[in-house]
Amino acid sequence: MPLVPMTAFAEDAKKHKYAVGQFNLNNLEFTQAITEAAAEEKSPVIFGVSEGAMRYMGLEYTVAMAKAAAETSGVPIALHLDHGSSFEVVMKCIRAGFSSVMFDGSHYPLEENIRLTKQVVEAAHAVGVSVEGELGTIGGVEDDLSVDEKDAALANPADAIRFWEETKVDYMAIAVGTAHGMYKGEPKISFEIIDEVARNIAAPIVLHGGSGVPDEAIKKSIQFGVGKINVNTENQVACTAKIREILAAKPNEIDPRKYLGPAREAIKEVVKGKIRLFGSNNRI
Ligand code: 13P
Repeated sequence: MPLVPMTAFAEDAKKHKYAVGQFNLNNLEFTQAITEAAAEEKSPVIFGVSEGAMRYMGLEYTVAMAKAAAETSGVPIALHLDHGSSFEVVMKCIRAGFSSVMFDGSHYPLEENIRLTKQVVEAAHAVGVSVEGELGTIGGVEDDLSVDEKDAALANPADAIRFWEETKVDYMAIAVGTAHGMYKGEPKISFEIIDEVARNIAAPIVLHGGSGVPDEAIKKSIQFGVGKINVNTENQVACTAKIREILAAKPNEIDPRKYLGPAREAIKEVVKGKIRLFGSNNRI
């Protein structure tokens, strides 16, 4: 089937209290691993593509890989821009074939974030593309984005509700205590914020920085209204650990397929585990 917007699975996820995973693409092997995991688990899935990953893979290659995955997998796949920084980048992705976009205006004052996000929603909805907006500042490092722990700010629920009412984004990312990258200690998630916002808006809440969040906290956040969870770092860690292991055992190995193939399997296992944890397995 063709790539779908994230609205294709939002209602079912809400009704049956599960979250759909956004797994970030880093290269061909990530794309294949995520697709195979979703197909084997009979789960919808979201390919997240950051601007940095897009520069690395190339826009046309990214869309071609995602389309090939969607057409062969038998499960619904959304190709989603992660943390889009401008209207121009969003438009470029939509024109190239993305089925979903995130506009991250979280570093702007609230009024400006609302104004810019509304422009994106208007243009994207006109061509059937779903939109994720963000409020509050998520800490940690992800490609071009780097937010010091002390500058990370949790979303104010009243602002988040107003943001949704005015923008009508399809998915709402709010900073609730998670961070991009691995955690030094255990993340302190504010379930109260998730609860209050989820009760007052129709859109599912998005949890960024899903790597390293304890399983129980993930399950609880889904119960409170999280409908999409982003994971990248754990897949990168699994991939690189497998490559290190193989090259340490066979320092003379020169065929990339001999270490990238097993790395792909390692990523797939992580994704399958997350899909089951999020409860989106057997939904297709
Ligand atoms: P992690 O890399 O911490 O899993 O976060 C991914 C993410 O939130 C992408 O937007």
